[in-house]
Amino acid sequence: MLCARCKWDMPEDTPGEIEDIQKEWDERSTSYDAYFNTFGGKLDEYLRWKLIKESLPEDKTARILDAGGGTGMVALPLAGMGYAVTLFDLSPGQLRVAEEKLRKHELSEAVEIIEADIAELPFPDEFFDLVLAVRGPISLATEPSKAVVELSRVTKRGGRICVDVSSRYWAVIRKYGRDPETALKLIRSELDHVHGAHGFGRVFSPEELEETFGRNGIKVTGIYGDFAYYLPEEMRKATKWEERSYNQVTEILERLSRESSVTGMGNDLILVGEKY
Ligand SMILES: C[S@@+](CC[C@H](N)C(=O)[O-])C[C@H]1O[C@@H](n2cnc3c(N)ncnc32)[C@H](O)[C@@H]1O
Repeated sequence: MLCARCKWDMPEDTPGEIEDIQKEWDERSTSYDAYFNTFGGKLDEYLRWKLIKESLPEDKTARILDAGGGTGMVALPLAGMGYAVTLFDLSPGQLRVAEEKLRKHELSEAVEIIEADIAELPFPDEFFDLVLAVRGPISLATEPSKAVVELSRVTKRGGRICVDVSSRYWAVIRKYGRDPETALKLIRSELDHVHGAHGFGRVFSPEELEETFGRNGIKVTGIYGDFAYYLPEEMRKATKWEERSYNQVTEILERLSRESSVTGMGNDLILVGEKY
């Protein structure tokens, strides 16, 4: 079910209000993790962890930022690997769930938890060796461009960044059959905000994404497409599956993600880059 501000048909090109975003994610905090027990959630994790692992520093004393880290789906495994992580989010509800999970796993010491807005970070310049913003926090932000400025600012020179955003062309493809007027505005970049895979927010084409980070001192080493939302909903939402089917689908998704001729069609775009 879509929330009030997540109307797929909403024509206005404005991001949400900060209080509404906070409320929405507070409400979703106790049910959010159930997604990761579904086939779609497992595929989502598979692809993102492949890319995150390629960016992980060897040095375990490196500083890692998990921006818009929610219930700690990224911070917790990183802490389990021995990294020190700073996790922040706009939603106190999401952070409470993260805190509880870390306590249960006796990993509270490894993760600093802060309530903050991704567009206004309480960290010094060039502070983190690796900056992550996984599953859409930049797209969901009230000020996505400021979020990119801030995430780039706090990344050390030579440090890495791995973020994902909602995709403009996926939104166009979904939209143009029943609402060509909106789809046309989207493809002409006259409209930037629609309902994407993670909620209502800013969509990007691969070129826009590369250009936005490039302007902020990030050399893009790769942009990868996530195609999990092309699977039928009943398959994504399944809680039981054959290992063979999982292995086949993950190989297809991984190959598609690295196939540059289709990147822009992915439902999410995952950017990996380095600060120069
Ligand atoms: C789809 S969840 C992803 C959470 C986590 N990164 C993960 O991988 O599971 C999006 C998160 O972005 C957070 N968020 C949205 N707008 C934000 C903002 N302006 N500043 C910080 N976090 C924000 C939400 O509260 C939510 O926890």
